[in-house]
Amino acid sequence: MVYMLTVIAGAIPCGVLLRFDPYGNDASGNKKVRQHAFMTHDNLIQKYNIPGPRYTSYPTVPYWEADSIDPEAWAETVANSFEASNASEGISLYVHLPYCESLCTFCGCHKRITKRHEVESPYIEAVLNEWRSYLQLFTTTPRIAELHYGGGTPTFFSPDNLARLTEGILQEGTPTEHFEYGFEAHPNSTTREHLDSLYRLGFRRCSFGVQDYDPLVQQTINRIQPFERVREVTDAARDTGYTSISHDLVFGLPHQTLANVIDTIDKTGELRPDRLAFYSYAHVPWIKGTGQRGFSEADLPKDEAKRALYEAGKRRFSELGYEEIGMDHFALETDNLYQSMQNHSLHRNFMGYTASATRLMVGLGMSSIGDSWDAFAQNEKTVPEYEARANRGELPVFRGHFLTDEDRVVRRHILNIMCHFETSWEDPAEQFPELETCLAKLEEMQADGLLQIEDQRLVVPEHARPFVRNICMAFDLRLLRNAPETRIFSMTI
Ligand SMILES: C[S@@+](CC[C@H](N)C(=O)[O-])C[C@H]1O[C@@H](n2cnc3c(N)ncnc32)[C@H](O)[C@@H]1O
Ligand code: SF4
Repeated sequence: MVYMLTVIAGAIPCGVLLRFDPYGNDASGNKKVRQHAFMTHDNLIQKYNIPGPRYTSYPTVPYWEADSIDPEAWAETVANSFEASNASEGISLYVHLPYCESLCTFCGCHKRITKRHEVESPYIEAVLNEWRSYLQLFTTTPRIAELHYGGGTPTFFSPDNLARLTEGILQEGTPTEHFEYGFEAHPNSTTREHLDSLYRLGFRRCSFGVQDYDPLVQQTINRIQPFERVREVTDAARDTGYTSISHDLVFGLPHQTLANVIDTIDKTGELRPDRLAFYSYAHVPWIKGTGQRGFSEADLPKDEAKRALYEAGKRRFSELGYEEIGMDHFALETDNLYQSMQNHSLHRNFMGYTASATRLMVGLGMSSIGDSWDAFAQNEKTVPEYEARANRGELPVFRGHFLTDEDRVVRRHILNIMCHFETSWEDPAEQFPELETCLAKLEEMQADGLLQIEDQRLVVPEHARPFVRNICMAFDLRLLRNAPETRIFSMTI
């Protein structure tokens, strides 16, 4: 579940020309007369459904100053971050396992399609070599708080190869007391052996891609996956002992109707996963390698029709006992994602929402992104380049970004809004020179009822949560200073 946001965010170095200024300025930048007095929900959607980031990082990947970092600088910041945090919270590891047997034509992830399973072994070897390069930067044994296998499809790999990978990583690492290990799985390729083997190695969370159960939608996205198969694998995961099972659903897929979405959610309710991701379909066909095809724009539910799918889904989730967590996610009250929202420890990073934060997140595998809290770095995006550099003992990063002081303050506000739907600048440390400009941008959204600002505190009311990406955009100084002129981001709603 979490991984996909990572991938989409990383995969979207392009979007739609920002023809519309969300902040109500005319072409010359002058404030327009406000027209919001009688805004209906539909009007609001029309007004605010614009291209925008999903904020799995700040700065967002297209705004990285790529030459602010190189492998040596990345190694240094990782080593410092490790020293500062390993003994206390430990570190997180994300491993990208990119292969899938067949292409789902809606997919926006970094994946490689093949039926040749000979690719598994060399890839695992390269990931372990990359891990060895990181180990040389660490002065003590890493304490692993979180280990996440994302993709692509981790269960493309055989149980034996996944065990070899996990044992290789954990040979030089110890789990923290409250460690969380999870993986993403395609229901069609997940076997009992996968579930058993990963369970034995400490995995307790798994998330299955479901998307939608309607036969026409499944056929259009080239992903035939009957409900019975998902039931079987979900039951098997529960029997094995997995304590947090998640399903990924997507709204806005080609040919999807309100009735499909409700039917999919009702079927999902029967299986009662602990968590749900309910992603807005990101239509980004201009990105090289996504392979989004086989349907036309006219087949996609748009604007109000798409939002209606979300609203109906959200109501149904609530009737079924799920609580909304941040953006796109729902969980039962017994799941720790819900508990972390309640106790204010919910965090968001390249893996999406997580129940706790570590200062250091190491990303292994092609296209993975690491975060040292002071900097980000992304690995090579092709398998041959990635494997060659990892096997030479290099850190195979090809771009990154060192955060400025301003970036850190803006990141705090964006994280607060994405995770807790509120932020505050009472503390001078949470202020920055251009804060007034950001607040001016928010005035119109306040008048439209999307937020309240009082006593240096901004709160997003529940009905305005769908607009949270737009609200974050008002703090995104890099976006404000340099609006993209070519396609970069998916639509916010
Ligand atoms: C890496 S896949 C999950 C594991 C496995 N590959 C599978 O498909 O079952 C990650 C998830 O990202 C979501 N996803 C992929 N492409 C998307 C897109 N274009 N828009 C929204 N969500 C998308 C899907 O819900 C998918 O299950
Ligand atoms: S959605 Fe399909 S193509 Fe995309 S990662 Fe999952 S299995 Fe692969």
